[in-house]
Amino acid sequence: MLENLGSLTLFVIFMTFIRHVLYNLKLRKHLPPGPTGLPIVGYLPFLGNEAHKDIAKLGDIYGNVFTLQLGIHNVVVLNDWEAVRDALHKDAFLGRPSNSPFTFIGNSTSLIDQKGNVWRDQRRFAAKVLKETTFGKGCLEEKILAELRHLIRLIDGANGRPMNLRSLLRPSISNIMSELVFGHSYDYNHPLRCALDQMISIAYERFPVIGSLSMAPVWFSKLVLRVGGIDNKKQFDTVFAIFDDEIRSHEKSFNWKNRSNNYIDSYLGEMQLRQQKDPYTMFTKSKLNANCRLFFGAGNEPVRTTIEWALILVASNSDHQLRIQREIDSIVGPGRQPYWADRPHMSFTEAFMNEVFRWKTVFPLNLMRSSIDNSSILGHFIAKNTRILANIWAVHNDPKVWDNPRLFNPCRFLTDDGRQVIPVDALIPFSTGKRSCIGESMGRLQVFLYFVTLLQRYTVSVANGELLGFEDRFGLTIQPKDRVILSFQKRI
Ligand code: HEM
Repeated sequence: MLENLGSLTLFVIFMTFIRHVLYNLKLRKHLPPGPTGLPIVGYLPFLGNEAHKDIAKLGDIYGNVFTLQLGIHNVVVLNDWEAVRDALHKDAFLGRPSNSPFTFIGNSTSLIDQKGNVWRDQRRFAAKVLKETTFGKGCLEEKILAELRHLIRLIDGANGRPMNLRSLLRPSISNIMSELVFGHSYDYNHPLRCALDQMISIAYERFPVIGSLSMAPVWFSKLVLRVGGIDNKKQFDTVFAIFDDEIRSHEKSFNWKNRSNNYIDSYLGEMQLRQQKDPYTMFTKSKLNANCRLFFGAGNEPVRTTIEWALILVASNSDHQLRIQREIDSIVGPGRQPYWADRPHMSFTEAFMNEVFRWKTVFPLNLMRSSIDNSSILGHFIAKNTRILANIWAVHNDPKVWDNPRLFNPCRFLTDDGRQVIPVDALIPFSTGKRSCIGESMGRLQVFLYFVTLLQRYTVSVANGELLGFEDRFGLTIQPKDRVILSFQKRI
């Protein structure tokens, strides 16, 4: 009896395997050509720690649009600017796959995973709040400047001794998000602040595993996550509770007349209005909780990482540092804090930041998209529900667009007289099209203000004269590999 059961199980597994191989072959017939990997796992085992570079190399053989089987899914890769521009500006590619890595965590999807009208409504509303809060009176810009004054006091306290900047930068950046979402910040050592930041950092480190699992059947991914303890329920529950508590306390104090413009208050107001008109509205408290988590998850790490790279790069090139400081001294001077409004007058600083965004593309592979209609990319037919992956790193290193792309050269963004910044469409750290990063303005604002404020006040150098490595650690973002130990010598 047991023997029969064992043979039957093997037979079912074998048939599932054959069915999968045949099904994939049938699907691939209509997709652009590409390398054939192994059955079931596809090309995943051949991708190393720097998947973006391995995928970019495949473009030399298969061209700028090709198909890669990753796990059980066929993924159409966009491997240069021409392909990315053609695809990501079409409405057909505004979708996300249904089992994206983020859907494994939590019980409600946030706007990053939604599609159709639900995504459009949630995104429009979030974009409106971001626009209203970023600039203007009592806005995020002023809160960032206040947060920076605090950060500077802490750095001053080190008296130029080498320090691990990340341990200060992480809570500082996270406080800006707290201001946007909650309307208040935390002490750096507050237990809630620490729990939240630790969870985000763990999620980013585990992304390669979680990302690969999103290429497997959903039941399998959930099983591995549970058995491997990767979806550490206790830790996630703690973080969900932080947001639930915040939402509850905002509900208690909610007042239409004196409502503030943080995301939770704005959403609660919108939810009330929508619920009066439509009891089935998708503006719900569980969506609010999911979107709050998303903002912290999506916004903090890339901003912090970009600032770290900019400081590392400036510490390793004193000519660049001096040129930026001369610009700061002439436009801002020593007597006041820098503002976003100074940026158009600081062409070298802007060119330098552009080059940081290009050279160290913090999101080397874009978030996976999915086609919501039959469509085409550069003449290749793409069927509905096909996964699409834009290789942003390949766009930023495309020799058809950039001269000597591996050279770090801010002047590539400047006119010959150095006075004007040359805009280049192919610079897409925030992706491109209608579904590009919703936090682009806020992200750019933070990076600019942190970088310029720190260089206005300090000369940044490598601690103990050590040579800085530019090696990176690839999770979801490209991070500096080690702790960033730098010295900050006061100049003003
Ligand atoms: C240097 C900073 C940042 C970089 C490089 C960055 C980059 C990106 C990229 C590449 C995407 C994928 C877009 C696509 O699918 O085509 C994205 C999406 C997203 N980002 Fe950012 N981001 C940054 C900062 C922020 C900030 C500060 C926030 C929060 C306010 C944020 C919130 C989001 C959200 C919510 C999405 C999903 C958008 C959607 O699916 O409609 N990001 N970001």
